[in-house]
Amino acid sequence: MASPVYITTPIYYVNAEPHLGHTYTTVVADTLARYHRSHATPTLFVTGTDEHGDKIARAAAAAGVDPKHHVDRVSGLFRETWQASGIGFDHFIRTTDEHHRATVQEILNRIHERGDIYFGEYSGLYCYGCERFYAERELDGGKCPDHQTPPTRITESNYFFRMGAYQQQLLAHIEAHPDFILPEGYRREVLALLREPIEDLCISRPKSRLDWGIELPFDRDYVTYVWADALVNYVSALRLLRATDFDSLWPHAIHIIGKDIVKPHAIYWPTMLMSAGIPLFHGLRVHGHWIMEGGKMSKSLGNVVRPLDMKARYGMDAFRYYLLREMAFGQDAVFSEEALITRVNADLANGFGNLASRVLAMQQRYFAGCVQPLAATPPAEDGALRAAFSQARREVAEHVEALAFHRALEALWQAIGHANQYVQSTAPFVLAKDPARRARVGEILHELLEALRVSSELAAPFVPETAGRLWTLLGLEGGPRLDRSLPWGAAFPAGHTTAPPEVLFPRIETPSVS
Ligand code: MSP
Repeated sequence: MASPVYITTPIYYVNAEPHLGHTYTTVVADTLARYHRSHATPTLFVTGTDEHGDKIARAAAAAGVDPKHHVDRVSGLFRETWQASGIGFDHFIRTTDEHHRATVQEILNRIHERGDIYFGEYSGLYCYGCERFYAERELDGGKCPDHQTPPTRITESNYFFRMGAYQQQLLAHIEAHPDFILPEGYRREVLALLREPIEDLCISRPKSRLDWGIELPFDRDYVTYVWADALVNYVSALRLLRATDFDSLWPHAIHIIGKDIVKPHAIYWPTMLMSAGIPLFHGLRVHGHWIMEGGKMSKSLGNVVRPLDMKARYGMDAFRYYLLREMAFGQDAVFSEEALITRVNADLANGFGNLASRVLAMQQRYFAGCVQPLAATPPAEDGALRAAFSQARREVAEHVEALAFHRALEALWQAIGHANQYVQSTAPFVLAKDPARRARVGEILHELLEALRVSSELAAPFVPETAGRLWTLLGLEGGPRLDRSLPWGAAFPAGHTTAPPEVLFPRIETPSVS
């Protein structure tokens, strides 16, 4: 059996409502999880919310409610949004969960007992937006490079984690494991960071300044710095779900993250694990950012892209398809509803949807849905169609393994394009007028039903809902799964009946850009 996978998304801050950025990370994780499940690989997929820290405490204060009330509401919104979007997570973790608190404290205790935590005074330039201290050289004209606001000088006594003590060990690990951080560009960035001295990490906040956090187990006057708390979620979730198999599953953990949070994941987290005596996760998979046409996505510009609005406007599968097809994983991409509409109409409505409706309609019209035998000796055109789908099957696998989702879809759509061409060149709608060619019409349609079956299997991780509907229209049992893939011809035995067509992907007629 294939080795298991444990896929995680970052846990989302509850100071904003679910938007395009969160949705992309989550859709990628969901697609990967579905892909692995469809190969019968034991798969766990966890997402959740990051609920402690300054940022959240201030968001609650701004909303005039107590933090717990605030985090319950926004965390609920994330969970409901993913559920309503058909995201198939196995568990939704919250950093305010009691089991998570216990794990954070246990891990901090281990690091403390190792002698890797010390108490010291620190004076630094702090950005409240980023919740981190900045070195002078990291500032942009004296301002936080992300928020463009001047940082505040803060002097306080805090606990520090000797991150630097693990620097060489981490460097060696990354050098020895080329797939620890992918794509390669991010791996190189991290290696460059690790070739310079790294500072120790401040892992506490005095309660006098912030009390919305997990208490340090060895000093009750302090709470845990939000990153040292949040990163541990990956371990707490797996412990909760698979306490007894933790040791065998944890080394298969894949963290999907955006490029803005590489440093905590690639440096803080592995060094914390090393100190705590926990093996490292399998790797990080880093994606780029969606850029809005008119500048940064913000409430004030009114250009926040909300997943459920997109679902209502275009359907969740169309939105997923666009996200996965448009962005090369690892690179930035520009979000545009116009481009989304063009893609959906060309690839989904005209390409895939049209193929399905033509084939199912002809099946119905000429044979009342009853599948006819394949050619005893398939002509070259049938062989070429089959070859196109074998190639798509190989390429989809290859590209998904390399996280090149856009290429995987491109490869599948090549085959779908081939099938549409085959309809044109074999012209069953012309042959059907000649009773002597009826058997050939049946053969052609059977070939096309196979093309649709394989398309549905290959498309299922990307557009699960529609692939499932097509599967049902084909009269097949269960759902589309790659591991159950049958040889060409075996899925439709004599007497098998398909259903009349339904519109799988409606054409979007008028741009409804808000
Ligand atoms: N809470 C931390 C993660 C802790 S994980 C132990 C956090 N949360 S977040 O809500 O700010 O962001 C989560 C994810 O959304 C990140 O992976 C980030 O890259 C992604 N995105 C936020 N805006 C984005 C875009 N505009 N485009 C693509 N993804 C971006 O960071």
